[in-house]
Amino acid sequence: MVNRISSSKRLQGVSPSGMRKLFEIAHELRKQGKEVLDFGLGDIDIPMPEKVKAGLIDAIDKGLTRYGSNPGDPILREKLANRYNEKFHAPDIDLENVIVTCGALESLFDTILAYIDPGDEIIIHEPSFKYFEYISRIAYAKPILLSTDSRNDFKLTADAINDVITSKTKVILLNYPTNPTAAILTKKEIKSITEVVEDAGILLVSDESYENIYYDGLNHSSFLEFNYPNTLVISSFSKSFSMTGLRVGYTIGASKDILIPINQIHQYNTAHANRPSQYAALAGLNHEEEISKYILEILTKRRDRIVQTWKKIPGLNFETPKSTFYIYGDVSQTEFPNCNDFCDFALKNGVILVPGTEFGSNKNENLTNYFRMSFGIGSGGLIERGAELLIEAFNNL
Ligand SMILES: Cc1ncc(COP(=O)(O)O)c(C=O)c1O
Repeated sequence: MVNRISSSKRLQGVSPSGMRKLFEIAHELRKQGKEVLDFGLGDIDIPMPEKVKAGLIDAIDKGLTRYGSNPGDPILREKLANRYNEKFHAPDIDLENVIVTCGALESLFDTILAYIDPGDEIIIHEPSFKYFEYISRIAYAKPILLSTDSRNDFKLTADAINDVITSKTKVILLNYPTNPTAAILTKKEIKSITEVVEDAGILLVSDESYENIYYDGLNHSSFLEFNYPNTLVISSFSKSFSMTGLRVGYTIGASKDILIPINQIHQYNTAHANRPSQYAALAGLNHEEEISKYILEILTKRRDRIVQTWKKIPGLNFETPKSTFYIYGDVSQTEFPNCNDFCDFALKNGVILVPGTEFGSNKNENLTNYFRMSFGIGSGGLIERGAELLIEAFNNL
């Protein structure tokens, strides 16, 4: 039967993801028996750490499966608050500054719905995770997409932000380390961005979902370290603890007041995060150092193998990422200097990559010259095989 009920207008600015088209083509190719390697997903295939698994099972065994507290079980909120006190020198944070959610996506959704009225402007850097723009459009906000480029390592600057702040600006949404560019900020850069945002008096939302995935001994600095009371840090257990399917994230407010409207949306949205998953997250935090080491060792090896093999693909250029598990590769010197042509060619040859145009709307060369390759999924010989298929395909042109 044809569905004659029109969908809500809020979905008009949210086109079906181009990634979906890619997956459909990949599905077709697989049905025809062709080999297809998937570097498109932002998921992670490292087995969930044993301690996390034990935390999950233990919670079920103990019957922690009934409704719980809306902002999350106090034991986890307290652990998170202590972590921010110690690790990020944020001494005023206690459990009331923390809401545990069903993943960073829920944190973003609750925050935008709690603070945005139609027509409000949200500053977002580009390229970035498309969800930021889409959740803005769903809330009838106007996303102000600020381009960043390789000359400045895809970092947004305080001056660029200052230039676009208007009386309608309500929120700035930042994501460092960045999906897809792996850009990171220094403490000094975070401080100067915070100062500009504080002068404007807008809400600073910082998605720090990749905070534990830094290579070469580098460490994360959080926006929460700079004492601007209208700061919200959103983060996630998904990638740092290899537990994407358990759906746990959190929102931390530099002040308790700014969490009140967010908790209202949260309680009507999901009531609370899955309780056994919260205990899996807690077990993860209790062994954070050991688990981070385990995950980083695997990801570092993958990253280094990509540098050894994918750099041999003719014309392809990319920086060795300092964070995340993404390569943002530049195709402008290849036979297919546009990302969509390049990704179509890769797909025809059995390799799924995501075109840069999936990470923004401006259609400029910071998007069109690039693709994202994820090595969150990369066990077995996947990385080498991907490079082999592409090198072979270019040689056969
Ligand atoms: C920047 C960013 N934020 C949030 C998420 C989703 O996090 P979660 O699984 O906690 O909802 C992703 C996933 O790819 C991401 O890249």
